[in-house]
Amino acid sequence: MSDLNYVRVEWDGELAIVTIDRPEKLNALNAEVISELGRVFDDLRGDDAVRGVILTGAGEKAFVAGADIGELATMGSLDGVRVSREGQAVFAAIEAFPRPVVAAVGGYALGGGCELALACHLRIASDNARFGLPEVGLGIIPGYGGTIRLARLVGLGRAIEMTLTGDAVRADRAEAMGLVSAVVPRADLMTEAKALARRITKNGPVAVRLALESIYRAVDTSTAEALGFESSLFGLLSSTDDMKEGMTAFLEKRAAEFRGT
Ligand code: COA
Repeated sequence: MSDLNYVRVEWDGELAIVTIDRPEKLNALNAEVISELGRVFDDLRGDDAVRGVILTGAGEKAFVAGADIGELATMGSLDGVRVSREGQAVFAAIEAFPRPVVAAVGGYALGGGCELALACHLRIASDNARFGLPEVGLGIIPGYGGTIRLARLVGLGRAIEMTLTGDAVRADRAEAMGLVSAVVPRADLMTEAKALARRITKNGPVAVRLALESIYRAVDTSTAEALGFESSLFGLLSSTDDMKEGMTAFLEKRAAEFRGT
């Protein structure tokens, strides 16, 4: 995709590195960034060479410092609904991405930036990272899924505290509350994010995809229905080449070579 202004895609082997590249505005999400992000993830979804995605922000200060306040300031109420829904659709597509998406958070993840990180499957943070939902201080609420996904991840109490105070939490507290998987020095962030992704991509790709499906389905359904869905996926996996390869490799005491079929 050559016509992107604010999102860059690079490759590291089987990993696509997606960078929001608007550092002069701390990678704030204007309409164009949201639209480009949507197009990039659509494109990557159809590319079988992608085994995982790292999503990050350009520059040393921010992952994403939120939705673009300059744009939000000019909204009418119908614009507000549209802006929220468009962002939610892109973030939902990231959450539903069939390969693992790791957010590498190297600084501020505020407002829409925090919500974007929450829509990723995993988050790894540098020691200078800050997570927060400061929207109420601007007279709005999080509109890209923050009022839903934060509570699911860290529990109601902490989500309510963060959302109502607008206070940002430091990386070490984010780790303690389960918001991020690990905190690493800023210089090591991308290396560690790739290493985390590769702990996943070495596994059976179909199994990883269906595990994500089962986990997210369970969030929205009853336990009984979720268990039924899990069993169906478990059964489906029993017919894959990857399942045969994974088990044969174990029995033959060698590393599995998964083909994703
Ligand atoms: N929307 C639009 N522009 C933003 C932005 C946002 N969410 N966050 C930062 N920027 C812009 C600033 O306006 C500034 O632009 P300028 O140089 O043209 O004036 C530039 O990015 C650098 O930000 P600055 O505020 O100078 O950096 P800082 O280090 O002093 O402060 C923050 C960093 C993150 C604390 C501060 O930028 C901030 O509070 N941003 C808004 C966070 C927010 O409320 N997000 C939720 C939005 S719903």
